[in-house]
Amino acid sequence: MVKIIDLRSDTQTRPTEEMYQAMINAPLGDEQNEEDPTVMELQKMAAEILGKEDALFTASGTMGNLVALMVHTSPGESVLMEEETHIMRCETGGLAVVAGLMLKTVPGELGCPKLDLLEKAIIGEGRLFATSSLICLENTHNAAGGTCISVEQMNAIAEIAKKHNLKIHVDGARIFNAAIALGIEPAHLVQKADSVQFCLSKSLGCPYGSMLVGTKEFIAKARKKRQILGGGMRQGGVMAAAGIIALDKMIDRLSEDHENARILADGLLEVGMQIDMRTIQTNLVFFEVPTHLVEATELVRKMKDKNVLIGKPSGNRIRVVTHKDISRDDVIFTIESLKEILK
Ligand SMILES: Cc1ncc(COP(=O)(O)O)c(C=O)c1O
Repeated sequence: MVKIIDLRSDTQTRPTEEMYQAMINAPLGDEQNEEDPTVMELQKMAAEILGKEDALFTASGTMGNLVALMVHTSPGESVLMEEETHIMRCETGGLAVVAGLMLKTVPGELGCPKLDLLEKAIIGEGRLFATSSLICLENTHNAAGGTCISVEQMNAIAEIAKKHNLKIHVDGARIFNAAIALGIEPAHLVQKADSVQFCLSKSLGCPYGSMLVGTKEFIAKARKKRQILGGGMRQGGVMAAAGIIALDKMIDRLSEDHENARILADGLLEVGMQIDMRTIQTNLVFFEVPTHLVEATELVRKMKDKNVLIGKPSGNRIRVVTHKDISRDDVIFTIESLKEILK
């Protein structure tokens, strides 16, 4: 069988053999009644690893984020976030459609909202106002290039939040990539956050699901909001079993993906692509295709002919992502393929 090197996303992984075995053998129950032992074990692990009291298994990152927004806010309030966040760009406006929130975006630097502008954007109390109640951060920040928000930045944002009585939610779809790249414990990184959503189905290699973590009180409320969205499960342990393996076995290996991403970025630079190297921090690599070399869509097509799938261009900008199913040899083959196409 021809190997396809799929660099489009870290959602393109397949479960490990151990995950499949765990899924077959998982003890099961009715998750909506909190009787599924496997889901409960996964939730306990997720809470522990992020240093929070409790956790909830959700169908997706989008659902986890939306549930968090619904718990932290009331309809008619406003939520602040950096202007290129996933919640703003790619979650179908759920915050307005479902949660009834107004969005205020703030320009950022490598994915972190600029602190002075963040504070200025806060809407205070008043009869006429959509008062701000929540700050959302994205760590790592997808559109900025998989960049990390540091503990120091988190602390500075937490100061602002405290001063203005705002909660903080972290869309940590790839929070473990951030923790590994920054060389700190995940719990330390999110200590100042009131809630965190992270994806099992991205760099951790699971077929499904996300976790939402926070206080016991927050998670009790989140469980009801998840039910409103139709997110209560039955024998959810089939899926949760893969998550347990992921939290046990798939976090430490993320540094391999980061190394592969750096090698890939170096190779892309070598063949003439343009990259802001400040953004090469984790497993995402964004590059600009200079039109004098090749059209971006043409490059995607030619790479596909070599069985290498790369992201759909946005203008001339293309994203490639390393993950557990991309080996060092795959990265080298990708660079060689680029060289052949561009020679
Ligand atoms: C930063 C970020 N947040 C949230 C999500 C949404 O996750 P899901 O696709 O599981 O809904 C994604 C998905 O790509 C993401 O990159």
